[in-house]
Amino acid sequence: MSFHIIEQAPGRLNRSELAVPGSQPQLFEKAAKSNVDVIFLDLEDAVAPDEKEGARKNIIEALNDIDWGNKSMSVRINGLDTHYMYRDVVDVVEQAGERLDLIMIPKVGTAADVYAVDMMVTQIEDARGYSKRIGFEHIIETALGMQNVHEIAAASKRNESLHFGVADYAASTRARTTIIGGVNPDYSVLTDPAEDGSREVHWDDMWHYALARMVVAARANGLRPIDGPFGDFSDGDGYRAAAKRAAVLGCEGKWAIHPSQIALANEVMSPSEAEITKAKRILEAMKQAEAEGKGAVSLDGRLIDYASIRQAEVLVEKAQQIAAN
Ligand code: GLV
Ligand code: MG
Repeated sequence: MSFHIIEQAPGRLNRSELAVPGSQPQLFEKAAKSNVDVIFLDLEDAVAPDEKEGARKNIIEALNDIDWGNKSMSVRINGLDTHYMYRDVVDVVEQAGERLDLIMIPKVGTAADVYAVDMMVTQIEDARGYSKRIGFEHIIETALGMQNVHEIAAASKRNESLHFGVADYAASTRARTTIIGGVNPDYSVLTDPAEDGSREVHWDDMWHYALARMVVAARANGLRPIDGPFGDFSDGDGYRAAAKRAAVLGCEGKWAIHPSQIALANEVMSPSEAEITKAKRILEAMKQAEAEGKGAVSLDGRLIDYASIRQAEVLVEKAQQIAAN
């Protein structure tokens, strides 16, 4: 390990994160009763300009009045380039800050953006005498945000997670997309010709680099990397495939833009029984190896060593966190 110790963000379960427009309060109760880990009540892109004020009021009322159980509650404020943002922070934190766990900052571009919101939230928390500190979730969804992702990730002690906002990221980088978070047949490779001259088209994941880059920045700063939206909510298989790709890269969770996506995210982002059993066997085998003075041993014909212990521990820890939820 480096001499630089990475402080980990609070161990919050974040397998699924449901987006709920603040302008549609009729959806709140159902969201509160769902199986989702985190809910973000949206003031930004799902809310039309003339509904912003009403949505703010709805959210404040709902945070105070609805029983959200043990869910983590977040509010997505408007971007720092709008005149809505300061009131989003002031009104929501002043009037409902006690039930608010997180603030989601969209289109964050620089570390100074984080500093600005941190300053406002700190003043309000101090003035109100709140004992709990509100955490930050940042959506990395612009070319600028991706360029500065490491500085953003390190910009505040409140930082908890980075989210890949694929829709705005596509707009910002002028990427060609078909659906939000989907793939594009133009992003493919052609195999060499077979004997009969035929060639296969292999579709590829155009989001791989961006997501992997964000995962590194998140993990290097002790934050949770979370994959963003998948727009076609009638395509469960497509969602599951996207979530699996994200999980393989290290993401801990994925957004649900529709309640039907919650179960899919929870399923993909939870370790399976087989994985947990295997991890426990690795820990057991390494304990035995250690007792015998060995640093590496084989299990089921494969080498395991101290790095295997760390991987297994992460898995078992996650399973315990889920069981305790
Ligand atoms: C989320 O905000 C996105 O733009 O994908
Ligand atoms: Mg966005």
